[in-house]
Amino acid sequence: MTILETRKLSRRFGALNAVSDVSLSLEAGEVRAIIGPNGAGKTTLFNLITGKLAPTGGKVIFEGADVTGVPAHALVRRGIGRSFQITNIFPRLSVFENILVGVLAGRGKTTNLFASLLSFETEAAEAREILDRVELGAKAGLPVSALSHGERRNLELGLTLALNPRLILLDEPTAGMSVEETASTVALIRRVAQSATVLFTEHDMGIVFSIADNISVLHQGSIIAEGTPEEIKGNRTVQVAYLGEEA
Ligand SMILES: Nc1ncnc2c1ncn2[C@@H]1O[C@H](COP(=O)(O)OP(=O)(O)O)[C@@H](O)[C@H]1O
Ligand SMILES: [Mg+2]
Repeated sequence: MTILETRKLSRRFGALNAVSDVSLSLEAGEVRAIIGPNGAGKTTLFNLITGKLAPTGGKVIFEGADVTGVPAHALVRRGIGRSFQITNIFPRLSVFENILVGVLAGRGKTTNLFASLLSFETEAAEAREILDRVELGAKAGLPVSALSHGERRNLELGLTLALNPRLILLDEPTAGMSVEETASTVALIRRVAQSATVLFTEHDMGIVFSIADNISVLHQGSIIAEGTPEEIKGNRTVQVAYLGEEA
């Protein structure tokens, strides 16, 4: 089953075609990497898919429905999660409270939130389960300010998971992480991918080749190649355009 399709999706910034006629098709359960050099249009493409940015052309189809132009908050409710929104974290709440807020938001229960956070037993159990999934169970009671950069990124991912997305977009999930944090995030993405479709960008080709089922290569706003990690490694066009002439 196709979960996400983009049809000739395009975005211009003035004279610049940041994303140009991008047609992608993701199968449910797939882990797809979008690779390409800086400025290739990866983040812009993610912004178009998640409704953060309106396309200047083309369509986004999610689970068979045309969601082009649907705003980001509505797409989150429909099952598209993205994890690169550090602003969603409430710095003065604890790690656990942050996830609980996310779980409650996903169930439309935000209105009476501060009345009695801990009266939501079902949601609290779900929040604890999510914290375990993102390896923050032991940090549940700490204020967010006590977390390392990598732990904050895991918390962001936890917030994304709290909304039960069926499609998750991760824009450079390991950016700025230490070697240890990167390894744990890679393991985490693998686990997340067992219950959702994942679309991600990543600079580290080792990570890309180890977690992606398929790779789409973006170059100057256009998809220039698509295939399995093996196919992409052996693709001459990709080697020249992306990995460098010497490759
Ligand atoms: N809001 C914007 N206004 C103008 N140009 C932009 C904007 N966002 C991105 N761009 C340009 O679009 C191109 C693609 O950027 P981006 O999607 O961030 O690439 P990537 O994520 O692959 O590094 C770049 O040339 C960038 O400068
Ligand atoms: Mg980017």
